[in-house]
Amino acid sequence: MKRKRQPAEPYRIKSVEPIKLLPRHEREQKIVKASYNLFKLDAADIYIDLLTDSGTGAMSARQWAALMLGDESYAGATSFHNFERTVQDIFRKQFVIPCHQGRAAENMLFTILDVENKYVLNNTHFDTTKGNVQHQRGFPVDLPCEDCLSEEPLKFKGNMNVAALEKFIQRQDAEAIALVIMTVTNNSVGGQPVSMQNIEEASEVCHRHGLPFFLDCARFAENCFFIKRDEKRYGQKSIKEIAAEMFEHCDGVLMSAKKDGLANIGGFIALNDESWYRQLTELMVIIEGFPTYGGLAGRDLEILSVGLAEALDYDYLDFRVDQVKYFGEKLTAAGLPIVEPTGGHAVFIDAGRFLPHIPVEQFPGQTLAVELYKEGGIRSAEIGSLMLGGVDPQTGKSFNAPRELVRLALPRRVYTNSHLDYAAEAAERMVGTKDKLSGYKIISSSNILRHFTCDLAPLASSKVTVG
Ligand code: F0G
Repeated sequence: MKRKRQPAEPYRIKSVEPIKLLPRHEREQKIVKASYNLFKLDAADIYIDLLTDSGTGAMSARQWAALMLGDESYAGATSFHNFERTVQDIFRKQFVIPCHQGRAAENMLFTILDVENKYVLNNTHFDTTKGNVQHQRGFPVDLPCEDCLSEEPLKFKGNMNVAALEKFIQRQDAEAIALVIMTVTNNSVGGQPVSMQNIEEASEVCHRHGLPFFLDCARFAENCFFIKRDEKRYGQKSIKEIAAEMFEHCDGVLMSAKKDGLANIGGFIALNDESWYRQLTELMVIIEGFPTYGGLAGRDLEILSVGLAEALDYDYLDFRVDQVKYFGEKLTAAGLPIVEPTGGHAVFIDAGRFLPHIPVEQFPGQTLAVELYKEGGIRSAEIGSLMLGGVDPQTGKSFNAPRELVRLALPRRVYTNSHLDYAAEAAERMVGTKDKLSGYKIISSSNILRHFTCDLAPLASSKVTVG
């Protein structure tokens, strides 16, 4: 069936950056040198970098122009006030605390809400969110909806299991839970959106039990696009109106603005509670910077003010979500099983289904990611048991991820569909050799967020005779 013509990019290219494909033998040497960890490759050795959509987007002409308006005063800069007004307007919260990126927001929020020895509940924690809870000796608990593991292309697979939330809260003492977070879109289960109804229901449960309810809104605009497209009652509302309604349900937001802030760096917390705000500003002076810059330059704040507004543009979101879908269709046609439907920022290949002969303990996702680099100079990210598995610090037992995924994240406004066609063709070449592929073992690693720095070594495949 012929595909409906997708919307073309609602922008044209003003500035270009050359990229180069190394010969295959050099790529093979580079990945050995990187100990089979794609985070250890030099960016210059990559042709198409789909490692992350975080901080990798292209800025608009307006953002570049805004950069020159940056007020670099230490305190009370005009750039801060512009940023504060923009955040208040979109996120509907009174107090705005800038910080250098999302994980700094997590660290500060979890410190003042004192998560030590307490549970933090989330539809699904992103890895740094989980890492920050654990770093403060809290207990992260994921409560994804049952649909999230379904192979059916269902809507709003990013939802939280609200019945499980209610049950979990009822089983605990009132003080045992520090806060509840809803991650929109839900990155770790495939960039899947969360419905307004689910946010409303989770918020109701939290507030009935007196628990703080926060949104991790790194990809809030993409989430609002799905609500507009797929949820009854929202078709006629603007993205900004949907965002405003979404934020009315929560006590505060924490945001990595490197995603839907359309900026290369930045983050913030926004909330209404004055006592939390006071505690945060006291803490940030010690670890992030004065409250009117929070680890950012004035120019970064100006760029964010423009970027946050641009992210609400319907035509931009329509193109972006469709580009992810287009890439998913190409990979499916190439013979790769993907998480369906595609979400807002990435295509997730199901490496567990693609490489069933590689045991989960041997990281089939990593095998696929390494192979994509060797085959096409493409960098992706394993989101399986290498990233999400590990050893439980309380029980000492090993655990694995629910699924062995490989994420191909699309930086915003960066690659054209020709780049994605090329990547799908490289993936198709790999499909022919899949039975010969084997797994990996970890040679050395850290306890928290091990995937960033660990060294790996290939295990010999039982099907291949070496020598
Ligand atoms: N929350 C979510 C949902 C995220 O996806 C990320 C980062 C963070 C928080 C942390 O933000 O990087 O600014 O410190 N996600 C990136 C990714 C790294 O590749 O998905 P940060």
